[in-house]
Amino acid sequence: MKVLGLETSCDETGVAVYDTERGLLADALYSQIDIHAEYGGVVPELASRDHVRKTLPLIDQVLAQSGIDRADIDGVAYTAGPGLVGALMVGATLGRAIAAGLGVPALGVHHMEGHLLAPMLADREGGAVPEYPFVALLVSGGHTQLVRVDGLGAYSLLGESLDDAAGEAFDKTAKMLGLPYPGGPHVAKLAEQGNPSRFEFPRPMVKQGGLDFSFSGLKTHTLTTVRACEAGGALSDQDRADIARAFETAAVDTLVIKCRRALKQEGLTRLVMAGGVSANVRLRAALEVKLSKEGGEVFYPPLKLCTDNGAMIAYAGALRLAAGEADGPDAEVRPRWPMTELAAPKAAA
Ligand code: KG4
Ligand code: ZN
Repeated sequence: MKVLGLETSCDETGVAVYDTERGLLADALYSQIDIHAEYGGVVPELASRDHVRKTLPLIDQVLAQSGIDRADIDGVAYTAGPGLVGALMVGATLGRAIAAGLGVPALGVHHMEGHLLAPMLADREGGAVPEYPFVALLVSGGHTQLVRVDGLGAYSLLGESLDDAAGEAFDKTAKMLGLPYPGGPHVAKLAEQGNPSRFEFPRPMVKQGGLDFSFSGLKTHTLTTVRACEAGGALSDQDRADIARAFETAAVDTLVIKCRRALKQEGLTRLVMAGGVSANVRLRAALEVKLSKEGGEVFYPPLKLCTDNGAMIAYAGALRLAAGEADGPDAEVRPRWPMTELAAPKAAA
């Protein structure tokens, strides 16, 4: 089954074709980062308009790359939520219209299920693919969640951020340090020059038990430190690097502690990490070192599939479409959509 996948939930237009027999046939991405950069964050209306401009040309591009014809498409998957409502509606409307025109089923996919399953696409690149059950750490610009995964659609929420998402905390820290949006990769790069012993930032919510996160206190601590350094004049390059390093170390430590706690609680050894922040090299390294000592394993998607992309939507959609699931007549986009509402695939009525 060949599935066209469309991702338009935020500021990347992602389009891909996944074939359940041959794997990922083509994957194209257009990032709107330059459009939003001058505003320091995503402007929803600009995002929707740009998805309108980019989605159809990207579809032509992936069809050409994958060497298939429009008539070969057996189903269309699009991101139905969570995300920006206008941006979601562009992908949903196009996806459903294309499916109707071709006479094939359409299916709205949950964006975080896409992220969660992206590590399964690692096998084409020679990477290891996790078996169920596992604990997933979903860390993106909008989510920080620990989820127990027993199979496709069998998700139990173990813990989540009570305030900012980890990616959001990276983005806000970047802003305080005068770095561009999205800040994660810039903070990580600057942190490499930082002195690890100059500042010690708090590890939020690790003392009390439980698997929830909170990143707003860490963000405030970062701001307080920036102000304290500024009291002596403008921030020097070394100040900025040292703050980036202290922030990153505290964020990574917190995530690692909670992941280990979740695995222990669930009696599992496999950890799957997905979402934009899973591209963070220090987080990957810290998890690998800690878990390997405890007989655990960590899996993550190929680097380019950590952040938003069409491949993960084509893949998640293909699994569900192949199982007979399809949009009903009342399908709508869901800007807010708890992942725990998902169930194992059910055939269309
Ligand atoms: O999954 P994603 O592309 O979009 C959402 O669904 O939110 O995640 C984007 C987030 C941004 O907050 C970005 O700063 C963060 O992922 N990010 C990183 C890194 N690369 C992207 N955070 C830390 N380190 C990175 N290397
Ligand atoms: Zn995402």
